[in-house]
Amino acid sequence: MDQNLLIAIDGPAASGKGTLARRLADHFNLPHLDTGLLYRAVARALIDSRTPLDDAAAATAAARGLKLTTFDPVRLKETGVGDAASKVAAIPSVREALLRLQKDFVQQPGGAVLDGRDTGTVIAPDADVKIFIEAAAEVRAERRFRELTAKGENARYEDVLATIKGRDARDSSRSVAPLRPAKDAVLLDTTHLDIEAAFRAALSIVEAARAGRERR
Ligand code: C5P
Repeated sequence: MDQNLLIAIDGPAASGKGTLARRLADHFNLPHLDTGLLYRAVARALIDSRTPLDDAAAATAAARGLKLTTFDPVRLKETGVGDAASKVAAIPSVREALLRLQKDFVQQPGGAVLDGRDTGTVIAPDADVKIFIEAAAEVRAERRFRELTAKGENARYEDVLATIKGRDARDSSRSVAPLRPAKDAVLLDTTHLDIEAAFRAALSIVEAARAGRERR
């Protein structure tokens, strides 16, 4: 492998970006950061202390106290935490407080894979490869619905779809670091792709970017 490979993957809720990022990280033997977990951890802290999600001072204090090593991904992935995370993620001082942690992760020797909403635009604007994942909201809701029912949760497809659409709208319209592709991101639409096909497509985007870099 060449000296450094930094991959930034962004996209809306339930687009499969986390799975793709993990697979690419395994493939290239790179560390992976799911940046959504940071916002989820802030939301979880507020929920657990019964603090309103729009309490900017409490949310910012929770963000400042975060350490990557103390995360419990299972609790952070529970239903409802994602939606709460998108509310605290719209608070500019929360984003500011989480910036350093993410920027430090990017600096690791060898590179890294990050996924989130603003990894290609704000966290790692110089990434070697930027991929923006898209998929129809109905398809994303169907995937999330199947995940939830497989976990034994009593979900309704219509509710899952409404939550996804609400989160898309909130994440795309906020004033700081809204969800949008970086100018140099490659768009990957996974509406009609299963995870294996999506992984192969993502891998060829990465390989094409690396080959282009070597030619330069
Ligand atoms: O990706 P995930 O669903 O875990 O993200 C939860 C929420 O965290 C998102 O809806 C978004 O509002 C926020 N987020 C963000 N910036 C990131 C990653 C996640 O604003 N880089």
